[in-house]
Amino acid sequence: MRAYKITQNGAPRQALHLATDLPLPSTPTGPNILIKVTCAGLNPADLHFMSILPAWLPFRKHPTPGLDFVGTIACAGPDVPEELAVGTTVCGALGVGQAFWGAGSLAEYVVVPAGLVAAVPEVLRGREGEAVGCGVAGQTAALVVKESNVQKGQRVLINGASGGVGTILVQVFKAKGAHVTAICSGANEALVRRLGADEVIDYTTFTAGGLYTHLTTTFPLSSNPLDFIIDCVYDSPLYTSSPSYLSLTGRFITIVGGRTQGIYPFILHKLRPVFLGGTPRRYDVLGLAPNGTLAREVAAWINDGVLKEVVIDSEFPFEEAVEAYEKLSTKRAKGKIVVRMR
Ligand SMILES: NC(=O)c1ccc[n+]([C@@H]2O[C@H](COP(=O)([O-])OP(=O)(O)OC[C@H]3O[C@@H](n4cnc5c(N)ncnc54)[C@H](OP(=O)(O)O)[C@@H]3O)[C@@H](O)[C@H]2O)c1
Repeated sequence: MRAYKITQNGAPRQALHLATDLPLPSTPTGPNILIKVTCAGLNPADLHFMSILPAWLPFRKHPTPGLDFVGTIACAGPDVPEELAVGTTVCGALGVGQAFWGAGSLAEYVVVPAGLVAAVPEVLRGREGEAVGCGVAGQTAALVVKESNVQKGQRVLINGASGGVGTILVQVFKAKGAHVTAICSGANEALVRRLGADEVIDYTTFTAGGLYTHLTTTFPLSSNPLDFIIDCVYDSPLYTSSPSYLSLTGRFITIVGGRTQGIYPFILHKLRPVFLGGTPRRYDVLGLAPNGTLAREVAAWINDGVLKEVVIDSEFPFEEAVEAYEKLSTKRAKGKIVVRMR
């Protein structure tokens, strides 16, 4: 079979090599299924795995990247539930261990535990590529929705609203009756409004510090402060300035730990008490461990019309996965980038 291999660390063009003569994975055992991949969805985490984790570690020699998959069950182990019969089209994201080990979804076949998959939503018949929405981005959005428990009428600010995670959060929070303000560049305003955002803030129009002043006047603490800030970009001052626009009981939830600063932001924001200069607002960092329960929750959102649109930025043929990753590296993707097998 064909699969991409990370043969050295670095940017996608240096790191990736398309291997064309690999053996098929062995027949799945126990609760595992062999999936013939039709689409893989790309995530920023793939780039981290490419650039940081050594590709030469003995247990992940020349790993295959890719977390999100959509495909057809080609073979099922003896302990796989009956509903996941051969021929069923499924989607989801690979588990943390498998991703770390490097048996990724940028391959013609991948073996996945049955517990990680969801059936592709009925409404996506004929456009299965959109089921990449049940991968990392959708599952992270589901985690945020569960953790925040946003209620009808509450005010939510989403930073990075036009990305893979943000485009899903806008729609789900809106369906829950929240008042959604989206932060993105002006070029993506029409997109996030179409998805349901009540207000849009174009971050590119502000000079340093201007965004936080704008938020202070738009959501004054005395009248209508925000209840939640969901950060999909990593913006430290958005948190440290938040006592001016995030209610006393409000929560700042980030899905970006601050990779370039290591765990420093976590210590600075989460653990520093107020009397030592900490910010008097709750700060949480969420990390996803992909699982089938979250994948099936996103599939249900799609089937029920809560998630009306999985925004696809672009689709690339398998042979152009390097170009697809280069597009992802620009951090300008609107929704998901998909790599399609032939
Ligand atoms: N904790 C976890 O388990 C977890 C899970 C998933 C993702 N993540 C992380 O969460 C982040 C978002 O993931 P994603 O898949 O949504 O990424 P993505 O799709 O690559 O995000 C791209 C979007 O980010 C927007 N953006 C870039 N810079 C911005 C800025 N300064 N202000 C506002 N928007 C900005 C861009 O919009 P414009 O072009 O309009 O600027 C673009 O639409 C990534 O860092 C990812 O690693 C973490």
